[in-house]
Amino acid sequence: KDSGPPSKIKCINFGGYEINTWHAAPYPEEYSRNKVLYICEFCLKYMNSDFVAWRHKLKCPAKHPPGDEIYRDGKYSFFEVDGRKNPVYCQNLCLLAKLFLGSKTLYYDVEPFLFYIMTETDEFGCHFAGYFSKEKRPSSQNNVSCILVLPIYQRRGFGHMLIDFSYLLTRVEQKTGSPEKPLSDMGLLSYRAYWRLILCHHLLDQNQPLSIVNISERTGMTPDDIVSALEGLRALVRDPITKTYALRLDRKYFKEYIERHDSKNYPKINPDRLVWVPYV
Ligand code: ACO
Ligand code: ZN
Repeated sequence: KDSGPPSKIKCINFGGYEINTWHAAPYPEEYSRNKVLYICEFCLKYMNSDFVAWRHKLKCPAKHPPGDEIYRDGKYSFFEVDGRKNPVYCQNLCLLAKLFLGSKTLYYDVEPFLFYIMTETDEFGCHFAGYFSKEKRPSSQNNVSCILVLPIYQRRGFGHMLIDFSYLLTRVEQKTGSPEKPLSDMGLLSYRAYWRLILCHHLLDQNQPLSIVNISERTGMTPDDIVSALEGLRALVRDPITKTYALRLDRKYFKEYIERHDSKNYPKINPDRLVWVPYV
C-alpha cells in the first residue's frame, strides 16, 4: 500500500546513467521529494543528492552483487542472492524494480525469495543489467516471480538470456516451471518470443515422434506453455472430424524463425558455465 504524498521521482541516476522511471515505488518519504534518486549500481543503496552519492562512491567497496557467482561466460555473470542473507540488498533491488514494474507488491518480505542478478563485467566491475526473483518454496510452480532488464539494457537479448537461465535452473532441478502471472505486456511479448524460439529448435531437432510431455521434460516448460507456443507457431492443428490434435511441422518456417533470431547476434547462455546446486 502506498502512503504519504505522491512520489516525485522522475528519474534515477544509476552507474552514471540517468534513467527515466515508469512507475512509482514506495521509497521512504524523504527520498521521494526529489526528481532524481541516486542509486549505487553495485550495492543498490539509494541516496538523496549527488554529493552523498559521490561520497558513497568513494567508500563503497562493492564491485559486484553480493551472494554467489554461479555462472560466468565471458563478460556475463549471474549471482544468486538469498533474501534471508542479504535482506537490505534485496529490498533495495525490489524498490528499484518497482520503478519499472506496474504490478509488483513485494518489497520488504524478501526472505522467501532467491534473486538472480545478471551482470556485464568491465574493468570497473560487474554492472547490474537485470534480474529475476524466484520463490524458494519447492512446491511452487513458478520458476520466475519478477523479471526485469534495466531500460538502458533492453532489446539486446538480455531478457531472453534471463528467461533461458531461469529454465536452465528448472531443468537442473528436474522440474517444469512458468513465470508468475499476470505478465506485463513486455513480459508476455518476451516470453512468447522465447517459447516459440525454443519450440522451433525442438521441433526441428527431432527425428522420432514427439509428445508434449517429452518436450516438457527437455525444456522445463509446462505443457500449457508448450501448447500456447505451438498454437503461436500454427503448429497445432485440430482435426474437425476426429477432434484430435496433430502437429504440423513446417520446417521451413521454423528455420526462418530461428535464422531471424540468430541474425541479431544476441549473447547466449552456455549451460556448461553454470556451477550450481538447487536450494534445499
Ligand atoms: N515491444 C515489442 N516487442 C518486445 C518488446 C517491446 N517493448 N520488448 C520485448 N519484446 C519482444 C521482442 O520480440 C524481443 O526480441 P527483439 O528485441 O529481438 O525483437 C523479445 O521480446 C525479447 O527481447 P529481449 O531483448 O530479450 O528482452 P529485454 O532485454 O528487452 O527484456 C523484459 C524484456 C525483461 C520484459 C523488459 O522489457 C523489462 O524489464 N520490462 C519492464 C519490466 C517488466 O515488464 N517485466 C516483466 C513483468 S512479468 C513478470 O515479472 C513475471
Ligand atoms: Zn554502494
